[in-house]
Amino acid sequence: MILSDYLAQAEALARDCRALLDRLESATRLDVAKGQLNALKDDRLAALQAALRTLPADDRRAAGAAFNTLKTSIQEALDSFATRQVAGTGAERFDGTMPGRGTWRGSLHPVTLVIDEICEIFRELGFTIALGPEAETEWYNFGALNFPADHPAMELHDTLYLGEDTLLRTHTSPVQVRTMQRFAPPIRVLAPGQVYRRDFFDATHAPAFMQLEGLAIDEGVSFVDLKATLAEFARRFYGATRRVRFGPSYFPFVEPGAQMDVEVDLGDGKGLRWVEILGCGMVHPNVIEAAGLDSEQYTGWAFGMGPARIAMSRYGVNDIRTFYDSDVRFLEQFAR
Ligand code: PHE
Repeated sequence: MILSDYLAQAEALARDCRALLDRLESATRLDVAKGQLNALKDDRLAALQAALRTLPADDRRAAGAAFNTLKTSIQEALDSFATRQVAGTGAERFDGTMPGRGTWRGSLHPVTLVIDEICEIFRELGFTIALGPEAETEWYNFGALNFPADHPAMELHDTLYLGEDTLLRTHTSPVQVRTMQRFAPPIRVLAPGQVYRRDFFDATHAPAFMQLEGLAIDEGVSFVDLKATLAEFARRFYGATRRVRFGPSYFPFVEPGAQMDVEVDLGDGKGLRWVEILGCGMVHPNVIEAAGLDSEQYTGWAFGMGPARIAMSRYGVNDIRTFYDSDVRFLEQFAR
């Protein structure tokens, strides 16, 4: 081939490519346009590249430059097609093959979702919702709950005091007393709410966190009711295959006191283990009396759980702080 022919062919190819892309509707999908362009140019471009070597040495420089110009102008034509496509309006611009851009509508927090789900399970078991204040008196938070006057929980370094006698409640158990004072048995309530402790913020503790209290008071209520109800809750919440167990535990306001553990895999490679998810027990007669009820006539049981820990045991999360980080990538996995 001689140089003038080479230059003419390169120019012709550039012209043909531009003409092809100019002819295409802007609604044509980019991958379709590229396909047609490749069909038109690939062989001719390869031939021109191969021809470079057959030219006399003196002509190669000019031909090589023309070859590069050709490639650039094909790319430019394709770019301008893509621009024209984006600039198109309405239906012209629609590309059915693009993945959709979902709208993020926000969602309830996973701990809120867990609370709602637990409340729903207990609602089916006959429980209603009760609420109490977050700023409590020492009497409701400790005294009425049978804490001895020198109990360490009442120390300044464990509890956030607001004044002489008021404090940020350290648990939702004071709602037990307030409920028994206001309503006559039979009582079956669930009391969700924020509680506060002077705890360090670590993998398993937060200084402010949600608790969910349960209380059942009636004539003839026994430990069997407690165990059966909580086991039924666990069956519905975790599924029938998840194992739970009860063990003895101590809280001044219950006697006997117990804890319920659930077997979980926290996703940290350590496999299944027992995790305590709630404290419970038969309401101490002193508490029933403090609330103004006759402990000879009425008995009952109570439990308290931390929904964030429940969420950890449900979803295999091993650091409670992830629930407070507000990282949408974490939170949106629980969105419903
Ligand atoms: N109030 C207890 C706590 O905060 C939990 C609990 C509630 C235990 C009711 C027994 C009965 O740890």
